[in-house]
Amino acid sequence: MAAKTKTVYVCRECGAESPKWMGRCNQCGEWNTFTEEQVVVSAKSSFSSSPDVHTSSLSIKPMVLRDVVVGEVQRSTTANDELDRVLGGGIVPGALILIGGEPGIGKSTLVLQMALTLPNKRVLYISGEESAQQIKIRAERISKANMDNCLVVSDTNIDRIHQHIKAANPDIVVVDSIQTVETERVDSLPGSVSQIRECTGILMRIAKESHLPIILIGHINKDGQLAGPKVLEHMVDVVLQFEGDRNHMYRILRGIKNRFGSTNEIGIFEMLGDGLREVSNPSEMLLSEFDEQLSGVAIAAAMEGARPFLIEIQALASSAAYGTPQRSATGFDGRRLNMLLAVLEKRAGFKLATKDVFLNVAGGIRVVDTAVDLAVASSILSSNTDITINPGICLAGEIGLSGEIRPVTRIEQRISEAAKLGFKHIIIPKYSRLNVSKYDIEVHQVSRLDQAFRLLFQ
Ligand code: TYD
Ligand code: MG
Repeated sequence: MAAKTKTVYVCRECGAESPKWMGRCNQCGEWNTFTEEQVVVSAKSSFSSSPDVHTSSLSIKPMVLRDVVVGEVQRSTTANDELDRVLGGGIVPGALILIGGEPGIGKSTLVLQMALTLPNKRVLYISGEESAQQIKIRAERISKANMDNCLVVSDTNIDRIHQHIKAANPDIVVVDSIQTVETERVDSLPGSVSQIRECTGILMRIAKESHLPIILIGHINKDGQLAGPKVLEHMVDVVLQFEGDRNHMYRILRGIKNRFGSTNEIGIFEMLGDGLREVSNPSEMLLSEFDEQLSGVAIAAAMEGARPFLIEIQALASSAAYGTPQRSATGFDGRRLNMLLAVLEKRAGFKLATKDVFLNVAGGIRVVDTAVDLAVASSILSSNTDITINPGICLAGEIGLSGEIRPVTRIEQRISEAAKLGFKHIIIPKYSRLNVSKYDIEVHQVSRLDQAFRLLFQ
């Protein structure tokens, strides 16, 4: 039977298909996510026409749960502490790992560097974006590179990629990027929802059947979403996001989903001329090195995942020149900034309604920890009054809508980190059971915003 082409509309979010365009997906409820795609309905179903994967599936039978033997999960370390941390201790056999990030952020560098420093593992690096020569040029930049165990091939066809994997028999496969891979069985362009779904499905079967870890690189579009369907995220075992500001050197690798570990972990790197450097003590980097005291600067004792670090929050409050004042935040949630400004106005009596307020988290880092609230509010006030905050003070505390300072998680780790870095005072929320005498730092517990401000600006 000859192959037929048909037009379908596919939801970018959930991958639902419809013969007609729809404004709202009736599966996931998202608006305006349908895109038109041509698909070839081949005589054989896509599953059976996939390359003859070595399969032992017939010998697999359902088992009584009680009889299932759980062996120790064999994780192989990547020789990169930051990457291992985010992966939950290393790479698990058969894992399908997706690393997403904006173009130019350093995804290829991160993965190639891992491939070149992995001890005693053969890596097959399949690139649909660059030629083998370009990969070699990048590899030459990376220090400590050992090029003996890394095979490279520039290809985009999924069937040929499957052949390459079978022929090379590597320990780990890298596909850079999933958006460039295509299969002839689907008649839409590479990067479209159906192409990505089909190719990821094939790679997933290869990974599971041969217990081969596969790392996929994926692009993120302008809205910070992984380009392609949400189904991609559902299919893979691990989703890591590589983020940072391209004008800054620091990069954060964040776990979004991990079937083999916690998503609380982050890895921090610095992009240097000779590759990515692991940043094992983030605090020292994220505090700026100015000795001079400046107004509008406050230091927050933040946590990202399970790691404490101290980070500098910078604010500028100035009289708005025209009508509506501007509010802008870099590295911090803009809506939360507006909320904090409203609290400062209403509960603490500061007149900020006519002020432009700009907020910046140093180092191009994005913080999601609400414990930085107190430092954000203090930096705004410091800039507004032009009074500097003593550089020996750091802050941690969430601000509630009535101006109360609310407890935050892992306060003891935050205090220890601040003490370790030589801070003299830390302002935190009130805790009923907290032994502050064991720390080499003066701990001030406050329950309201004005108490904190009195300590800072008296
Ligand atoms: P790249 O890994 O190509 O990004 P992606 O795959 O996410 O698109 O890296 C992009 C940038 O990193 C590029 O602008 C050059 C820079 N870079 C360094 O600063 N140092 C290095 O050692 C390497 C290899 C790249
Ligand atoms: Mg790349």
